[in-house]
Amino acid sequence: MGSVRAAWCSVPVVVLCLAGLLCANLLLYWYLEALYPVGVMPHVGRQCPPRHFKLGNMKDCIPWLQCAEVRKDVRRLKLIGQGAVKKVYLSEWKGQKVALSALVSETYRPDFLHGLSMLHSLQSVRVVQLVGACEDDYVLVTEYHPLGTPLSLDDALAMPRYHGSDTWQTRLHLVLDYVAFLSFLHNSPVGSRVMCDSNDLGKTLSQFLLTSDLRLVANDLDALPEVPRGGQGVKCGPRELTGDFVAPEQLWPHGSGTPFTDELMPGYDEKTDVWKIPDVTRFLLGHVVGSDVIHFHLFQIHADCKRYDPRMRPTAREVLSVYRSVYDTMVESHRHTRDML
Ligand SMILES: Nc1ncnc2c1ncn2[C@@H]1O[C@H](COP(=O)(O)OP(=O)(O)OP(=O)(O)O)[C@@H](O)[C@H]1O
Ligand SMILES: [Mg+2]
Repeated sequence: MGSVRAAWCSVPVVVLCLAGLLCANLLLYWYLEALYPVGVMPHVGRQCPPRHFKLGNMKDCIPWLQCAEVRKDVRRLKLIGQGAVKKVYLSEWKGQKVALSALVSETYRPDFLHGLSMLHSLQSVRVVQLVGACEDDYVLVTEYHPLGTPLSLDDALAMPRYHGSDTWQTRLHLVLDYVAFLSFLHNSPVGSRVMCDSNDLGKTLSQFLLTSDLRLVANDLDALPEVPRGGQGVKCGPRELTGDFVAPEQLWPHGSGTPFTDELMPGYDEKTDVWKIPDVTRFLLGHVVGSDVIHFHLFQIHADCKRYDPRMRPTAREVLSVYRSVYDTMVESHRHTRDML
């Protein structure tokens, strides 16, 4: 009789234990869900024919705006950015927000025209959408991206609108966009090109824009010299470069005893961009749950990007392929952990 009562008494204990176990499992599940959120947002193509654009809620693609339309229909609202080459104004065109860039000084006229011609040639999901231009006035119009450059990525991800988006997944997507752009640039329809406006981390990041769906597009294409195959390479400007952000082959090789001259400075190629990948990736990944695991997976490829001899570095395409497999590994390990629960 006593043992029957004891058995009955232990029933609530067992139920309590089971409920506790269930709660612990649920907590672990929610934690892992936060660590590895599912639902990858595809980088949606614009699906416009060449020399056409489509903004926001527009139903159809329409041809790039020409001088007459830019002059008549694009209204400058306020200055939102300025670099050495362009002043950029938030502007309005038929109820749509656009960005109008105007040449700052005659000195940079060739840079402005080069940038415009690159925007023409490299239109794709990797590059800001061109809306129109007026070469005669040194003005170009592009899609407006309110989040600005990825320099303010942490601020953007802290906005209530992006609550829950500051995850390794969002950040790894930005990194993939960045390396995919380099891979595209190095194998572009207009040859292999180097991203020269990249002498420090801030400068490099300021050449890109963060879209409202938290992807990265290249924006400032004013300094993309072509690497002639079998030639002497390119130089990013006629002045001496310093610091450890730039690739070693971009530094003056003849020692402090010999004064710098452009003539004696050897050229280099697109592998200078590969040298810079680990630094940009580190910035974009930041310090969120999961980013340390990604850094661990990227250790070897980053060591390869930092090889002193540029010929020993991987191509951007190879880096992209490793990054993609790291992304797949992360997603797979997430699935595996969830299945076990
Ligand atoms: N489409 C856009 N949407 C939102 N902000 C933009 C846009 N285009 C440019 N900007 C802002 O304006 C700034 C300057 O633009 P941009 O880099 O094209 O000028 P620049 O004179 O070529 O710069 P640099 O000195 O790097 O050559 C950008 O860093 C960005 O903050
Ligand atoms: Mg520029």
